[in-house]
Parts: sequence; structure tokens; C-alpha cells
Amino acid sequence: MSGTAQPDLSDLPLRPELKGEEPYGAPQLDVPVLLNVNENPYPPDEQVIADIARAVTEAAASMNRYPERDAIGLRDDLARYLGHDLRAENIWAANGSNEVMTHVLGAFGGPGRSGLTFSPSYSMYPEYARNTHTEWLTVPRKADFSIDVDLALRSIAEIRPDVILVASPNNPTGTRAGIDELEALCQAAPGVIVIDEAYAEFARPGSRSALELLPRFPRLAVSRTMSKAFAFAGGRLGYLAAAPAFVDALRIIRLPYHLSAVTQAVARVALAHAPRMLAQLDVLRAERDKLQDRLVTADLDVAESDANFILFGRFADRHRVWQSLLDRGVLIRETGPAGWLRVSVGTPEENAAFTAALTEVLPTAERASDE
Ligand SMILES: Cc1ncc(COP(=O)(O)O)c(C=O)c1O
Repeated sequence: MSGTAQPDLSDLPLRPELKGEEPYGAPQLDVPVLLNVNENPYPPDEQVIADIARAVTEAAASMNRYPERDAIGLRDDLARYLGHDLRAENIWAANGSNEVMTHVLGAFGGPGRSGLTFSPSYSMYPEYARNTHTEWLTVPRKADFSIDVDLALRSIAEIRPDVILVASPNNPTGTRAGIDELEALCQAAPGVIVIDEAYAEFARPGSRSALELLPRFPRLAVSRTMSKAFAFAGGRLGYLAAAPAFVDALRIIRLPYHLSAVTQAVARVALAHAPRMLAQLDVLRAERDKLQDRLVTADLDVAESDANFILFGRFADRHRVWQSLLDRGVLIRETGPAGWLRVSVGTPEENAAFTAALTEVLPTAERASDE
């Protein structure tokens, strides 16, 4: 483009509601201990790596052709993984659950329509709404970050949202809603409701998934991802389970051939190796509980987590604490309500490094005062 004037973003005719917006941007920094985006810290084992490589080679041989447009084989595998008598026509898949959710908002939200969630929650929800011209509303959670069901039901009756998104376990709080609470929300939802179970596999034993509610609520979808427990964040594969008609609605909105042949092939390999991919789940759950105990012992406020991360605080200047940890080679996430920070659960060594760094930082970290 030499000789061509390079415009600034402000010179371009951007949609007015996008002016001044920043792209999603959890920092990607090269530091020894990465505990900021709730990844599974364990890479795939040798066997899975070899099988993925073979699947990519096979996919390469027909790269001149478009991929299987409806990804039936992959959706069939995902249905089998979820159980609950689900079949391929109950499953929708896309490049991460972020894309799945964008399809939901595209199909059921839109101009003149509204969506609702319970704050604080996942920071991308308002962005899906913005991108699809859906009005976005929030109902606050209680002080312990559980859903205030009475307030939720009153708000739903008043607002009559077209889409309700409920993350359980919730990000960034880690808190999980009980099945009775989810059922009450499903009962009240006038439009569609998505229970976002991105972190479901990390929940404590005995926790019940909203998947069991699917037969009774035809406008319910339960969203999952392979990015977290499944240790497949780089593969970009999210999915949901719902009634076949719900899935048909999403098929209208998706771009043609949205899931590449490589994505479909490698996700199927990962699913075929589910026990290997999920092998570290017990370690991660135990590490989460240990980390939670350590934070409580350090006299911090800690949200009860059923996920692979913990929200803790509260600090008068959380950025300073975040930066001091980064200076010690530990990257966590500055997110959630004012004063709180979120740390992902890593390997025992990474968690020990985080704890050691925090122990150094805490004596000079001023706590937030209760006003
Ligand atoms: C609650 C929740 N939902 C959805 C996602 C999106 O995950 P992905 O697009 O990697 O499937 C995340 C990612 O952090 C999340 O925390």
C-alpha cells in the first residue's frame, strides 16, 4: 500500500455504536506462569498429538473441497459424549462457544429484541448483543454471586427478554446455580434460554447439569465447549444441545462451511480420546479446592468456585496487585467487580508459584474497605 494514505480508525465510517470500542483483549504475554484465561494447563499427550497430526494429513488430501457443511459426524460424536439420549440433530457446533452464542443472538435476538443475564457474568455476552443489535439488560446477583431468583423472576416478567443467557458455573465468579433455580428460570423464560455450561466438567461431584431439563423445555439450549476441561482451546470447538428446531434456527444464521475440515477432523480425534483429554480433571479439581483454601487462609474474600478458576479480593487497587504478580512472572486476570481478581487453576507447580508470589505481594496490598 505504499503511496496510499493510511486512514486512522476514526476516519472510517464505523457503525456509531462501535466507535471507541476495544476488541476483546485478555493480555497474551510471554511469562512463565499463565493463569489468566481459564485454560487447561496440560497439553495433549503423545498419542493424541500423533492422531491429530494424522487427521490433519488426511484432511489436507481433500483441501480443494469444502468441508462437510453440517458437520454431522462431529455432531454425532458430541451427542454421544453428552449422553442424555441426545442425537446429532440435537447438537449445534461452531468455532468456540463464543460463535455458538453469536448464532443464538443472531437467530433469536436482533433489532427491537432484548437479552438478559445475571451480572457479573461473562464479559462477551454484551458484545454478542451489540454485534447483533440486541438490547442487553442485566439483573444483579446477590453478594455471594448466587442468582437472586425472586428478583430474576420479577425482572423476567417485566422485561420479557427474547434471550436469557445464564452461565453456570459462572465466569468470572465460578459460582454454580442449582438445578431448581435453573428450572425456575426456564419456566419463566418467555423466549429462549441458554445455560452456558462452559465449565460444567469442573463442577463438584453430584452437581446436576441443565442437560436433564432439555426434554421439558423446548426453548432451552445447554452450551458447552471443548476449550476448558477438554484441553482443546486451540482447536476452537464449542457446541450446544437443544431441540432439533432450535438447531435448525441456528443453521439459518451460520455462514456456509463455518467449521473447517481441519477443525472437524481434529475435534473428532479429541473426542475419540475423551478419557485422555479429561485425564487431569481430578487433579485440577483438587488443586482448585486447595487454592481456594489457601486464599481463604490468607484472609481474602473468595467466591465459592465450581470451575477451574477462583475470584478473590478485595483490593483497594487491584491493578497494583495484578501488576505485582506479573512482575513476579505470574499472569492472572483483572476482571470482575471492582476490587476482585481472577486466577485460573494451573498445574501444582504453577499454583505454587502463584501462591508464593501472592504471599510476597499481600503484605503491601491494601484491602478494599466496606462502605
Ligand atoms: C462462560 C463462558 N462461556 C463461553 C466461553 C467461550 O469459550 P470458547 O469460545 O473458547 O468455547 C468462555 C470462555 O472463557 C466462558 O468463560
